[in-house]
Amino acid sequence: MQHAKIFSVLRFTFYVPRPMKLLVTGGAGYIGSHTVRKLKAAGHELVIFDNLSSGHQDAIQTFELFVGDLVNKQDLEKVFSQHAFDGVVHFAGSIEAGESMTDPKRFFNNNFVCGLNLLEAMLTHDVKKIIFSSSAAVYGEPTKMPIEETAPKNPTNVYGLTKLMFEQVLDAYDYAYGLKSVALRYFNAVGADPSGEIGADHKNKTHLLTLMLLTALGQHDSIKIFGTDFPTPDGTGIRDYVHVNDLADAHVLALDYLTKNNNSNKFNLGNEKGTSVRQVIDLAKEITGVDFKVIEEPRRDGDPAELFASSQKAKTILGWQPQFPEMRQIVETAWNWHQKHPHGFEK
Ligand code: UFG
Repeated sequence: MQHAKIFSVLRFTFYVPRPMKLLVTGGAGYIGSHTVRKLKAAGHELVIFDNLSSGHQDAIQTFELFVGDLVNKQDLEKVFSQHAFDGVVHFAGSIEAGESMTDPKRFFNNNFVCGLNLLEAMLTHDVKKIIFSSSAAVYGEPTKMPIEETAPKNPTNVYGLTKLMFEQVLDAYDYAYGLKSVALRYFNAVGADPSGEIGADHKNKTHLLTLMLLTALGQHDSIKIFGTDFPTPDGTGIRDYVHVNDLADAHVLALDYLTKNNNSNKFNLGNEKGTSVRQVIDLAKEITGVDFKVIEEPRRDGDPAELFASSQKAKTILGWQPQFPEMRQIVETAWNWHQKHPHGFEK
C-alpha cells in the first residue's frame, strides 16, 4: 500500500509512463516486429493483430497473435471484445510506393478503408489513443529541404495520398470524437535488429537496399537504378534512410507523449541527411565485398528526386535520438540479417 502511494507521488512529480495494453496491427511486419520488441521492453502488454499476408509469425514468436484482417469488422469486434485496450499502434497497410501507381485499388482499400474499420472499432470500444505509421510520401516533391512537418503536402504517388488521407481522418476524429493520435512520418526504413534475428522480409521485394543485398547474395543478376537524370549531384534519387530500431524507439516515445499530453501530433522520423542511390550502391559493394551488376533504367513513376527530413520536432518534443545515424551501420545490420537469413523467415 505504502509502495503504491510512493509510486503515485513519484508518477505525479516526475511523470512515469504507465504500462498500457496495446493492439498492434501489422505487428508481424518489418517495422512492426522491431517495434513490438521495444514496446514489450518498455513494459507494455501487447496483442498483435495481423493477417500474415506479408507479416511473419517467426518474427513475433513470443508474442500473442490474433490472426485477423482489418477488412473484416467481425475480426475487429472479436479482438476488441476480448481485450480492454488502452491504445492502438497501427502499422498494417500496403507500403510499396511504386506499386501504388499501378494498383491504386489495393492501396485505397488497405490503407484507407481498413483504417476506417479500425477507428470504428476503437470508438465503439472507447479506445481513444492511436499511433499511426505515416510516411514521408505525404510531402511528395518538396520545395524546401530539409522537410519540416509544416511543409506542403502534395503526394506524388497513391501510397502517399492514402497516408495523407488517413492523417486527415485522424484530425477530424480528434475534433469530433476526442480520438488522440500521433502520426509518425517515416522516411526510408532500413536496417535490421543487430541480433540478426529479425529483419526485412517483404513478399514484394521492391526496396533498394534489400534488392541490393539479395543481389550481392547471388539471388538476382543485377540491381536497377531507377533514373539517372534527376536534378541531384550524381543524377540518382536521394533519400533519408533511417534504421528500423530507431523508428521502433520513436513509437515508445510517442505513446509516452500521448499518455502525458493527451494531444494529437505529427512527427518526421529521418536522419536529416540524404544518400543517393549511387552512394548506397557503393557502400553496399564495399560492405558485402561483392561487385554486383548495376543497370541504369528510366525513372519510376511517382518517385521524387530528393527527400530528407528535419527531425528536430521529434528530437525536441519526443526526446528521440537515433542510435544508428550512420548509413554504414544501417547497411551493416541489414547485411548481417540477410547473410544469416538469405531466404528471410522461410526455413
Ligand atoms: N530505387 C532504385 N532501384 C530499385 C529500387 C529503388 O533505383 O530497384 C531507388 C528509388 O527510385 C528511390 C530509392 O531507390 O530513389 C529508394 O527506393 P525504395 O523503393 O527503397 O523506397 P521509396 O523511396 O520508393 O519508398 C520508401 C517506402 C515508402 C516510404 C518512402 C518514404 O517504400 O513506403 O520510402 O521516403 F513512403
